Amino acid sequence: MPYYRVTGEIPRKRHVRFRRPDGGLYAEELMGEEGFASDSSLLYHAHLPTAIVKSEGLADAAADAGIVPNHPLLPRHFRTGDLPRGGDLVLGRQLLLANDDVRISFAAADAASGLYRNSTGDEAIYLRAGAARFESVYGCLEAGQGDYVVVPRGTIHRWISTGAEALVIEARGHIRPPRRYLSQFGQFLEHAPYSERDLRCPDGPLIADGEDVPVIVRNRGGLTRLTYAHHPFDVVGWDGCLYPYAFNIADFEPIVKRTHAPPPVHQTFEGPNFVICSFCPRPLDFDAEAVPIPYNHHNVDSDEMMFYVGGDYSARKGSGVGIGSITLHPSGFTHGPQPGAVEAAVRGLAEGRTSTDETAVMIDTFRPLLLAPAGQRSEDPENPWSWGRAARG
Ligand SMILES: [Fe+2]
Repeated sequence: MPYYRVTGEIPRKRHVRFRRPDGGLYAEELMGEEGFASDSSLLYHAHLPTAIVKSEGLADAAADAGIVPNHPLLPRHFRTGDLPRGGDLVLGRQLLLANDDVRISFAAADAASGLYRNSTGDEAIYLRAGAARFESVYGCLEAGQGDYVVVPRGTIHRWISTGAEALVIEARGHIRPPRRYLSQFGQFLEHAPYSERDLRCPDGPLIADGEDVPVIVRNRGGLTRLTYAHHPFDVVGWDGCLYPYAFNIADFEPIVKRTHAPPPVHQTFEGPNFVICSFCPRPLDFDAEAVPIPYNHHNVDSDEMMFYVGGDYSARKGSGVGIGSITLHPSGFTHGPQPGAVEAAVRGLAEGRTSTDETAVMIDTFRPLLLAPAGQRSEDPENPWSWGRAARG
């Protein structure tokens, strides 16, 4: 994040002596991106953040086993409601789709996770339902329905949830607001659909005592359990531009046109070779001749994944797609509204319908998405034929 924040106690200057009440020195930790050449934050620990006492390799249940290409080519529909419930928001992730840039999982969590550090990339966790408390070295965030929580790579954190359904987006790189929304120095511009005021940040230091504290670390080599001599939540203050934050989808200000606007107006974040978009309740296209529904399209460079999270998505009415559904429209396949949906939308406009209440989260990737086990397990086999069968009558 380009937006400077300070939390807790910090000394007047960077890299000067900062003493604990017992006279000892606090230990600095600079968390920084792109090798000192991008955003960073400086954290002050009561104990050394380097002090580990044990390292154990772990088997990785989320490894790449069972991931297959989308072959033969088909549009897909996954029902997350059919997937098992339980576990936590870290180890309970059920991988749906993946490629070399992003891994997309579903979790229906009812337990607290252990401490976790993902050093392979940033994460964005979207809560479709329920609530969860995010605790980290930067402090806490209370997350609820409709929140995206963006977690920078390397943040030690844990999730405490007694009931949350989430889409977990793990990037091989950084997840950021789209560059075109920002000034050259990083402030949100006036045309952006959200601003700094919409971002919720950790509200203060979070201190926890403990010795010999395990942290599960995902790095490029796999999963490791590192045991720290002292609890990593011993930060008395930090400042900088790198930290986790929450953004609620209801705070996204939709951009509308007189005739139908394409998904880039819904873009919320960008990652390496993918984008995240938020489809929110908004006025329908308002030209007297408008067709207020998506047109058939084929983004020849992208696979498109859509997670249906609220309201009534009229373009797919009659297809079996509902709340909790995920559709995948891959490159090589032209997709669009269900047969009859265009006519119904035009009729609705004539009858005075002026808005849509749909809410959906879309991820478009430039590399093809591969099918992971949870996707294969929850697939609706009838979906690919839903356009063709209805069109034939
Ligand atoms: Fe699309």
